[in-house]
Amino acid sequence: MTFTVQLVSGVATDIASDALIVAVFAGGVADSDALGALEPALGGGLLAHLKASEFEGKLEQLQEVPTFGRVKARRLLVIGLGPKADADGARVRSALAAAVRSAQSSTTKTLAIVLPELSSSLRAVGEAVVLGAYRFAKYYTGDRKPKAELSKVSVVLAGKASAEQKKQLEQGVAVGHAVNIARDAVNEPPNELYPETLAQVAQRIAKENGFKIKVLDKKGIAAAGMHLHYAVGQGSANEPRFIHLSYVPKKKKKKVVFVGKGLTFDSGGLCIKPAAGMGEMKSDMAGAAAVLGLMAAVGVTKPDIELHVLVGAAENMPDAAAYRPADVFGSLDGKTVEIINTDAEGRLVLADALAYAVNLKPDVIVDAATLTGAALVALGKSCSAFYATTDDLAATLEASAREAGEQFWRMPLLEDLAEQLKSDIADLKHTGDRYGGSITAALFLREFVGKVPWVHCDIAGPVLAERPRGMYPKGGTGHAVLTFLSFVERLAAG
Ligand code: BES
Ligand code: MN
Ligand code: ZN
Repeated sequence: MTFTVQLVSGVATDIASDALIVAVFAGGVADSDALGALEPALGGGLLAHLKASEFEGKLEQLQEVPTFGRVKARRLLVIGLGPKADADGARVRSALAAAVRSAQSSTTKTLAIVLPELSSSLRAVGEAVVLGAYRFAKYYTGDRKPKAELSKVSVVLAGKASAEQKKQLEQGVAVGHAVNIARDAVNEPPNELYPETLAQVAQRIAKENGFKIKVLDKKGIAAAGMHLHYAVGQGSANEPRFIHLSYVPKKKKKKVVFVGKGLTFDSGGLCIKPAAGMGEMKSDMAGAAAVLGLMAAVGVTKPDIELHVLVGAAENMPDAAAYRPADVFGSLDGKTVEIINTDAEGRLVLADALAYAVNLKPDVIVDAATLTGAALVALGKSCSAFYATTDDLAATLEASAREAGEQFWRMPLLEDLAEQLKSDIADLKHTGDRYGGSITAALFLREFVGKVPWVHCDIAGPVLAERPRGMYPKGGTGHAVLTFLSFVERLAAG
């Protein structure tokens, strides 16, 4: 996707494009200058048509209007932004992204978006354009291949665009591309995206943004003492990798480490999963994708925060060399762990990565992982579960999610459930009972963060969507990148 996004001032009737999107607030059809300008060209039937279609400008309400060649734009779509007073960045982003997605056909090359006067930053608009235009078409051939690529998007303002607005839009475009890196990684099939190639994605991000990067291979993981991570990866021909990216600006208010679960495929190992739905486990690296997407975004927004991103990448497979239930391994911080179920591999990889994070002496650790089916049972597929060891961090994460337009719900670290993790033979068992499975997973992880304030995000649900919705396309959604970006920006500000 290499289209340009430009900011122009103009009138809707003058715009020649394959598709024209006009955004209006709820109840604002009659007040819209853009619709008013198009009305005579369309023979005076536009407003009547919108009324007959019961278009009111409700949030994400979308109406295509036939143009019969009477205006310069080939297609006309009107998108609702909801009530003007509520139109914050999150709502504008999700409505515009949905409109852009609908406007894009296999022949759309140029797109124009006419905006009313917005109180939110144009960064959300830039993000929306890139998020809405996203598609994952690299494996299509012949007829399935899109006939055209989007080449130009014009964002049309009534007044003159300020330099500040141009910068906001540009940043938004770049942030959108960073989210799309996460989506691409999730959508990529597991025969192409395995630990080694996931590390190459990280290398590319490091190179493009001037970040430092360290990658440990299988031997390096063993030598570092990350025996839990090693154990999870030992049954696969695709060897594990540990990835450490760092961004160290001159001015830094805080040091933050983000940790991502990077299971490029989770078959369950010897405790193998049922065939139905196993393919979805190519998305078991979505935590890694989210923190890598965050890193790419930070390369653009450059906050005053020292940021480290760690990824534990492995493939969980059944094999003669695979780890087994009843095995005992030592973690990086020395604790011993009795393996109960080889399908609870994510928390093992994370345990070593969290212990590594603690050694960096950060102010905050955040991890992101497609960790448990129990999180899906608790909150459904569109909301992530999160846990926080301080109320301050929880409040910051909630505010960040709201700004991003993503759903995160705080869950409790119920102390009495910790008993389930007692082992007869080692320091810890790594799983508990079936009930409260997301909580016991979080309690297991907490054993490895020491006293560092910590947030754990179980993002198993929203990272992969069955149907498009708002800014999320079908497939890999890029969930959590924008929330984490806002979180980092809040820490930099506070
Ligand atoms: N990657 C899965 C969790 C998952 C399940 C993510 C469904 C997305 C959709 C994880 O590794 C796993 O298998 N967890 C087990 C843990 C259990 C064995 C204690 C689970 O949740 O069933
Ligand atoms: Mn698993
Ligand atoms: Zn998993």
